[in-house]
Amino acid sequence: MSKRTIVTLPGDGIGRAVLDESVRVLDAAGFNADYVEGDIGWEFWRKEGNPLPQRTIDLLEKHKIALFGAITSKPKDEAFEELSPELKEKGLIYSSPIVGLRQHFGLEICARPCKTYKGNPLNFIRRGKNGEIEEPGVDVVIFRQNTEGLYGGVEWSNPNDKVYDALMTHPKFVKNFSNAPREDVSISTRIFTKKRTENILRAAFDYAVKYGYKSVTLAEKPNVIRETSGMMYKMALQMQKNDYPGIELWNTNIDAQMMWLTKNPENYGVIVAGNMFGDIVSDGFAGLIGGLGFACSAQWSLDGVAVFEPTHGSAPKYAGYKTSIVNPIAMIESACMMLDYIEEKTISDKIRKAVAEVIADGKVRTYDMMKMRGTADVIKNGAASTKEMADAVIAKL
Ligand code: NAI
Ligand code: MG
Repeated sequence: MSKRTIVTLPGDGIGRAVLDESVRVLDAAGFNADYVEGDIGWEFWRKEGNPLPQRTIDLLEKHKIALFGAITSKPKDEAFEELSPELKEKGLIYSSPIVGLRQHFGLEICARPCKTYKGNPLNFIRRGKNGEIEEPGVDVVIFRQNTEGLYGGVEWSNPNDKVYDALMTHPKFVKNFSNAPREDVSISTRIFTKKRTENILRAAFDYAVKYGYKSVTLAEKPNVIRETSGMMYKMALQMQKNDYPGIELWNTNIDAQMMWLTKNPENYGVIVAGNMFGDIVSDGFAGLIGGLGFACSAQWSLDGVAVFEPTHGSAPKYAGYKTSIVNPIAMIESACMMLDYIEEKTISDKIRKAVAEVIADGKVRTYDMMKMRGTADVIKNGAASTKEMADAVIAKL
């Protein structure tokens, strides 16, 4: 097979540190690829007024697969302040480049696995029947619709006549909201479309079949949000019946799901949800397996563009450190998801096994795994640096 080219998008803050270490791990594991770096993030907003330059979009269009570190987003006014002086008159408005990438390429499927590593001191524990300590093994993959729903950006404050008049055609709006002055009304819509809802459901079921999970749980709220959640539930029922009779479909309400995730997280397999509930439930499960240093993700379009990233952000307070202290495992795991996606499962298995061994040994731990407050002193106090963690993984390969 011809050598692959992977686009690297380090972005801001700790993005570069974790991405560089992950590429080192990929190389050491025998993944044979060329890497081209794409410009993305705050620096390009400040210098060019665009955090997602067209040349970066072109790169991804060409090579299809990217590893992404993290970006920094700041509120509108601050973003404007930091623009270089000659750009300030241009009326530019900052918007998050990772959201921009998702929308531009239709990266509608987001998968976020949360799997317990034995020996991780951050693992969730609870009391058993006789007061003993239990450490349930979590192995959950959350499928989150990544482009629609409440994060779709269709919103108004003080809505214009057309929008307001349309709302006034709904009896519940008239009854519950028409007494408020119009300028006091803010609206964020939750739009689901059939095609994209079907796509995320199918991705979840297919994944369950491929990797041997027995259930798919829909974590929405169809009893209350009847149109969107309701549509998704109806479609899930139909799809399970027609196409996936071997997989159980469980239906939970998102609020109850958040309670159950600390009661019986080991019972769940694949979970599927719309954009915001998927975001929430995946952060919830990530907390059970070690938090941001361990939470990885993949997002892809149905026509083959895919971006792999840790779910953490740019952690700016650790960005300036001479020796980076953050945990690279979330990024390394995201790189493993990339390998799975491009059918390099032998290499991803090898890396995951190495990571598991390092964690089980317990000799090399980053500051988060030692429950330290992140400061420049953590290395002196026995925490591994970002590089040392990657070195430990490489040594196990
Ligand atoms: P964050 O995820 O950057 O950091 C929160 C805290 O989590 C950090 O202070 C640190 O204590 C810990 N942390 C994060 N990554 C870690 C790692 N690899 N190892 C160990 N500890 C880690 O979130 P925050 O502080 O809310 O946002 C910082 C910036 O990142 C903001 O500008 C935000 O907009 C952006 N952001 C970007 C995301 C992305 O690129 N997809 C996602 C989330 C936030
Ligand atoms: Mg989130």
